[in-house]
Amino acid sequence: MDGKPNRVLACFSSQSGTSESLAERFCNDLNWKTEDFNLSIVRNTGDFEEPEALKKLEEYEIVIFFISSYGEGEPCDDGVKFFQTLKRWGTKLKQYSLFGCGNTYYDKYQAAAIELKQLMESNGCTLVGEFGQGNEANNSVLDDYDAWSFDYQPVISRLLNVPLKERTEYVPLYRILKPDEMNMQASITERHPYQEMKPFVSDIDLASVRKYGSNYVHFDLELHQEKSRLKYQAGDHVGIYPKNSRGDVDEMLHILGLDEKADPFIAVPFERLGTSGWRGKVFPSYREFFTHNVEINGALSRKLVQDLMSYFIRESATELRAELGMLIASQEVFRQKVLDRRLTLVKFFQKFGITRGTHYDTIPVSFVLEYLGPLKPRLFSISSSECVQPDRVGVMLKLVKDAGSGFDGVCSRTIEEIIGGRDRDGAAAGNAAAADIAGANRLPIYVKRSKFKLPSTLARPMLFVGAGSGMAPFRGFLQEICAQPHKLKQVTQIVVYFGLRSLTDEHYLYRDSFDEFRRVLGDRLVLRLAVSGGASTSPDGIRTKKYVQDLLREDAVAVVDQLVGRNGHVYVCGDAGGLSHGVRKVLVDVLGQARGSLKSGDQYVQYMQSMGRYREDVW
Ligand SMILES: Cc1cc2nc3c(=O)[nH]c(=O)nc-3n(C[C@H](O)[C@H](O)[C@H](O)COP(=O)(O)OP(=O)(O)OC[C@H]3O[C@@H](n4cnc5c(N)ncnc54)[C@H](O)[C@@H]3O)c2cc1C
Ligand SMILES: Cc1cc2nc3c(=O)[nH]c(=O)nc-3n(C[C@H](O)[C@H](O)[C@H](O)COP(=O)(O)O)c2cc1C
Repeated sequence: MDGKPNRVLACFSSQSGTSESLAERFCNDLNWKTEDFNLSIVRNTGDFEEPEALKKLEEYEIVIFFISSYGEGEPCDDGVKFFQTLKRWGTKLKQYSLFGCGNTYYDKYQAAAIELKQLMESNGCTLVGEFGQGNEANNSVLDDYDAWSFDYQPVISRLLNVPLKERTEYVPLYRILKPDEMNMQASITERHPYQEMKPFVSDIDLASVRKYGSNYVHFDLELHQEKSRLKYQAGDHVGIYPKNSRGDVDEMLHILGLDEKADPFIAVPFERLGTSGWRGKVFPSYREFFTHNVEINGALSRKLVQDLMSYFIRESATELRAELGMLIASQEVFRQKVLDRRLTLVKFFQKFGITRGTHYDTIPVSFVLEYLGPLKPRLFSISSSECVQPDRVGVMLKLVKDAGSGFDGVCSRTIEEIIGGRDRDGAAAGNAAAADIAGANRLPIYVKRSKFKLPSTLARPMLFVGAGSGMAPFRGFLQEICAQPHKLKQVTQIVVYFGLRSLTDEHYLYRDSFDEFRRVLGDRLVLRLAVSGGASTSPDGIRTKKYVQDLLREDAVAVVDQLVGRNGHVYVCGDAGGLSHGVRKVLVDVLGQARGSLKSGDQYVQYMQSMGRYREDVW
């Protein structure tokens, strides 16, 4: 580093790390290709949220924004204030570029990135290159980014007047230091409050576990309030850091040739060009590091495979290289053969018979870290109320399992293993640190605030619409209402539209809780069950298979009265694809018919949203 000012800023707004890691990858690539390690740097939009800091953006020749969209098309929490400051104070930034991360399941696809683009346009800033868009719905964010970056790099090279060197070999982003190169005393100061970057290690209350067939499981996580001071409200989310299974970690260590280094303790600190994550941390062993810190089962990308191929240099790898070359030649083929089959890196090696010693000699640890990234926390809607259980949060987990590909979600498997009592590996390996976090029934968690909250007055009708685990926050809301006499008194009408596959115990989640709520609320609580499994018609030809949308349509007259006549509220929770779109569409139809036109139905739903009377908690 020669102290020259940075010319390029990659500025991200990210919640679960996708935009952040793309910004880092972009800068790393640009710096290496120009051999100028001062050329670009990465920062969070949060660093520019004060008016004076915002002005600093103008010091860069170009700012490239990596923006993820959330909620009802908003930036994520870290970006909210930046957007507000930008709106209020404006910017004289001359030119900028933009890559957005989003998901077409959501109504407001890329809304935060689009808003930034509009703000920039209104400030007279020029967009350089294409507005890049990564769509998580197709599992193709990485591929979308690689395609955008491929086209964008010549553009920025011309703009900055710097030639780009062809990057023929992989250059590690992370440097692994040996214990004696590192101050082993380094540690993070423990301070409250516990949050995403510093989670609290919680116990699963095994007595609370309730399995619903093989699809769903409810469990409570202890907050140990006195120790953690963690608080929550019904409607908030809990983030859980899962752990990779011992088998997957073993395979990964084997791929990297680290098996013999797996245990016992060795230090594995990392240095990183980026902003957060592993930087400066010390890990007791590769095993512990890969178990708790790396998304080793994450989705692959064509670029990963392409760069991986540069290690397959042995004579015996010629055929393999040709086969993989065909695989990555087409985005569609890659999607079908790799992404749709949920191939993890380990499974990819198994499927293509890739073997160390036969096809390659070594693959740097840094390669895996860069392409697969840090292990992300998984979010869940809390299914309890602090009024009933202040020291525990309830979770209803729909287990992620794909029978076709044999893929198990990381968190799903972690929970299943804990519940099944099979999670003794940390202790068995004699690894105290791993055992401490992973042993028995412990998991790092944090509470994430959400806007999915009951209204301040409960006197107006409320429609709770959801399916499957989407019932979780409604159980929390109803617990909260039933536990507090003053709230209970206010309630006039709550209609729960519950989509489920069958009325058996396997799918009728929280049946006991709903029975209890009905006992307390009487006929002020109506439970409308939409059973979607089984035969679609009864023997006498009547349609029996129903979705919550069908019930809302059947109840059209009442719904119009509740929402328009009595200014009621709608809450939707569950699947961001079919369910939330479907419910919105039905309400637009129903309200539109009552108000004379579809357009006015849509306007009314938008009006409800703007008044906080239409809220979604969808994923
Ligand atoms: C705000 C919020 C609230 C939520 N609330 C709930 C809730 O209350 N209950 C609930 O059950 N869920 C909830 N979810 C969803 C839950 O967080 C996810 O289902 C979570 O990913 C499950 O974690 P997992 O580790 O078991 O699965 P993961 O390992 O994260 O896998 C999830 C999906 O990622 C994709 N994927 C992962 N690896 C690969 C790969 N190698 N190749 C291709 N695709 C891959 C697949 O589509 C897979 O199905 C919520 C999500 C959000 C954002
Ligand atoms: C709760 C939630 C809400 C979301 N809302 C939107 C949205 O309104 N529009 C959109 O395009 N994408 C939406 N997404 C998708 C995210 O933008 C996408 O997952 C992105 O890759 C996350 O980036 P990050 O890891 O940088 O936070 C949402 C995702 C979640 C989990």
